[in-house]
Amino acid sequence: GADLPADVVTRVKNLHSIVIGRWEMETWYYSPLPPEYRNLRTLYVCEFTLKFFRTRDGLERHLARNTRWCPPGREIYRKDHLAVFEVDGARNHFYCQNICYISKLFLDHKTLYYDVDPFLFYVLCEIDDWGYHFVGYFSKEKASEENYNVACILTLPPYQRKGYGKFLIALSYELSRREGIRGSPEKPLSDLGLLGYRSYWSQILIDLLMKATGPLSIEDIADRTMMKTEDIIGTLRALDLVHYHEGQHVIDLRRVEHMDLGNRGMPFDPQYLRWSPPV
Ligand code: ACO
Repeated sequence: GADLPADVVTRVKNLHSIVIGRWEMETWYYSPLPPEYRNLRTLYVCEFTLKFFRTRDGLERHLARNTRWCPPGREIYRKDHLAVFEVDGARNHFYCQNICYISKLFLDHKTLYYDVDPFLFYVLCEIDDWGYHFVGYFSKEKASEENYNVACILTLPPYQRKGYGKFLIALSYELSRREGIRGSPEKPLSDLGLLGYRSYWSQILIDLLMKATGPLSIEDIADRTMMKTEDIIGTLRALDLVHYHEGQHVIDLRRVEHMDLGNRGMPFDPQYLRWSPPV
């Protein structure tokens, strides 16, 4: 065939679709899957163990023997039909590595880390009589020098635009609140990542400003939201709510009253989070 540079060849999407649970979804990008799973049309994935199979038969034989209907790790959140598990990359190496392979199928903008040991994974599931169904996740470095509170975030395509992304982002900021450290997602953000964060940040800030009874500084807002000041200023600028006056950022509260908050998403309820920072 044509002599393409090696990096072009390797970046071509290598799967048409994946099957997870009751969904078959088209993949978006290349993922460096283990060699035995490359060059398939469809990859079959067990949504509980995240084991990969080359055929539907293989997956079904696995499911017939399988006795685990939820992710590994510890359930840290449960309310109504939603649950979140905290999975340690060092303890559940195989499971977390497979999360990375899957999420790379929907992410193009950054290199993923396949050394999962330094990360925790927060896996969101919908629960029904058949088990805990994998909806999405975010990963987080156990120790981040830059205070990143999310390394990588994904909602599987059939579950996107339903508020799960904002649920996961709200959880990530609640973890930051309990750690007492202002956080921010790892850069660069993807286009969808930026849209999701802008939407979450705007809602949080507009809510806070609407309830404000007195003057608020950017530092006050950072303390209450656990957002970094640059994300606060960036969001207020994007909403055209802030101007710079005599060396200070001044927020125009009159304009806030007229802001449309849009879809409120899946409410994350911090009361149901059983988690405290490791000592
Ligand atoms: N078009 C326009 N706006 C969108 C879209 C879209 N396709 N998707 C999300 N948004 C915006 C909307 O403002 C939406 O709020 P609204 O529905 O109230 O208008 C807001 O983002 C949040 O939507 P959610 O439903 O809460 O988020 P979702 O569950 O769809 O997840 C996510 C967002 C995680 C970014 C998802 O799109 C995804 O997994 N994308 C592929 C992987 C990716 O790019 N991840 C982010 C990488 S950056 C990082 O990891 C730090």
